[in-house]
Amino acid sequence: MTDDRVAVVAQTLTPPSSRAVQAGLKAHPRIANVIAVGSGKGGVGKSTTTVNLALALHRLGLRVGVLDADVYGPSVPLMLGLSGRPESTEDKKIIPMRALGVDTMSIGYLIEEDSPMIWRGPMATQALTQFFNDTLWDDLDVLLIDLPPGTGDIQLTLAQKIPVAGAVVVTTPQEVATLDARKALAMFEKVNIPVLGLVENMAVHVCSACGHAEHIFGQGGGQAMAARYNVPLLGSLPLDAAIREQADAGTPIVSAQPDGVISQAYVALARALVERLATRPRAQIALNTLGS
Ligand SMILES: Nc1ncnc2c1ncn2[C@@H]1O[C@H](COP(=O)(O)OP(=O)(O)OP(=O)(O)O)[C@@H](O)[C@H]1O
Ligand SMILES: [Mg+2]
Repeated sequence: MTDDRVAVVAQTLTPPSSRAVQAGLKAHPRIANVIAVGSGKGGVGKSTTTVNLALALHRLGLRVGVLDADVYGPSVPLMLGLSGRPESTEDKKIIPMRALGVDTMSIGYLIEEDSPMIWRGPMATQALTQFFNDTLWDDLDVLLIDLPPGTGDIQLTLAQKIPVAGAVVVTTPQEVATLDARKALAMFEKVNIPVLGLVENMAVHVCSACGHAEHIFGQGGGQAMAARYNVPLLGSLPLDAAIREQADAGTPIVSAQPDGVISQAYVALARALVERLATRPRAQIALNTLGS
């Protein structure tokens, strides 16, 4: 690695100030910006993207949290190597669990592993608002919310109850082909949550033996989709076994191989996201933001 690249990685960002949230909702007093990560279809890599993006933002000097809103299939604890129960305070606030510099909260900490999550809608949606409101979040520049797949109850609750600055939609080249990602874009549009941009995941496969890059699922889908729906393409991540292995091991690739090209791609994604956030209207000045 050249000295130039070290300098690029080490550079920190000015934390983004609070951006506007949905009309009628009040910003969280200690969280500057909440960003939801969604997709039309399951298994496209939302959780993997969320944790690596969180680590990349942390590396750029931001204070970051992750709220795992996938109450049916929480994966943030595993991906960040966290287990056990969070502590709570006397007034029943939950203290977030911290790993690799990132504060997290997940239903995964409160249920037995492998226990079936047969929850009715209202219980699941209540869990989201409780985790958001009853966790003793430290001051955060960005809280990422890892959504379950699709456009159901949790997404609706998010739109109605959680003050968010915007959403990121994760797609894969196959998803673009089937237009599932379009469903996620349409849903966020309908509930007045601005889509900050698309992330194309598993875009290109680089052979670990010979270095040959192959577009297994077709080329340029994310770019074409971004152009068609007039949203920025914030980043493109390769299909790479190390991304899965490191997430499964609880040390995501941005932490395990901080200088590798894939980490660089996540850091570039983090920068693009913060730049895009900065183009959104500022939040109305509230008392708690005066002087900061
Ligand atoms: N870029 C990638 N390269 C290789 N494997 C990946 C990549 N992104 C994600 N994966 C793997 O794909 C699987 C699905 O990823 P992940 O759990 O992040 O998806 P998801 O969209 O959160 O799924 P769900 O809809 O179930 O919440 C995981 O095994 C993960 O390790
Ligand atoms: Mg997930």
